[in-house]
Amino acid sequence: MKLSEIKIQFQEELSGLYSKSEIQELFSIFCDYFLNLNKIELRNHLENNLSESNSNRFSEAISELKTGKPFQQILGETKFFGLKFFVNEHVLIPRPETEELLELAINKIKERTTKKEIKILDIGTGSGIIPIVLKKYFPEAAVTALDISEEALKIARKNSDFHKTEINFIQKDYLNEIFDSAQTNEVYDVIISNPPYIGAEENPEIEDAVKGFEPHLALFSPTSDALIFYRQIAEDCKNHLAKNGFLFLEINQKLGQQTLELFQDSFSKVHLLKDISGNDRMIFGRK
Ligand SMILES: C[S@@+](CC[C@H](N)C(=O)[O-])C[C@H]1O[C@@H](n2cnc3c(N)ncnc32)[C@H](O)[C@@H]1O
Repeated sequence: MKLSEIKIQFQEELSGLYSKSEIQELFSIFCDYFLNLNKIELRNHLENNLSESNSNRFSEAISELKTGKPFQQILGETKFFGLKFFVNEHVLIPRPETEELLELAINKIKERTTKKEIKILDIGTGSGIIPIVLKKYFPEAAVTALDISEEALKIARKNSDFHKTEINFIQKDYLNEIFDSAQTNEVYDVIISNPPYIGAEENPEIEDAVKGFEPHLALFSPTSDALIFYRQIAEDCKNHLAKNGFLFLEINQKLGQQTLELFQDSFSKVHLLKDISGNDRMIFGRK
């Protein structure tokens, strides 16, 4: 089968689910992954005949895409901050907003501290993207990352091994296992988190592909209180964030002011920041 015929199959079979440009993008992504052809090279290879095994791989990918499965889960990997990360159904697929959070964190830490051996804690680490990127930028930092999900931590450890970063991963229910257990009775210089922040009432607004394929544990607050993680983090920052320590949080765009208020009393400076789309998306605090 020719690649041009596969391209037509993509358009015909996925047109009910995706826009024309999205299908074009998906086709390019799979050509890159299966055939190692970038967008420019692709144009010159459309009339090439594919091997049977490659034709089968494309057909299987189309079948999976038709179920609404995110392409990153089909490939088993994604790009984040210019790096490759493994993903599966147990972890949130990293979002561009979290790249913005990391960019903010890296810049602020670099600008405002000369200390090298900083202690960093990431709460709700998922695939481990946050601690791994931070460890790459701050190799002398002692980085701890926790998650309630052992399955998510398996992927985080796999990513950490792949990137050769030494991170202390802990399986822990952040909301119910209190912070003062032997493992975590620490004071950190940086606390960072992208916790579950979708409230139950927002459930109908979330796309089916997200709800159907990504872990509910990663998306939704476990109670009717969408800010439950932020309240706990605000409380824990009192004793477990160092004086002058940094706080970086990704937040629910609809709850910017309410989230900010949780941190105003115990921080010398705390700011609500917008993402590239102009939505309230991040909290940056300095204790
Ligand atoms: C929004 S995802 C963020 C994942 C990753 N940090 C990222 O930015 O892509 C939230 C993560 O919090 C974890 N989580 C949910 N409830 C938790 C709890 N009670 N204690 C610790 N982690 C929890 C989920 O398993 C999930 O990996």
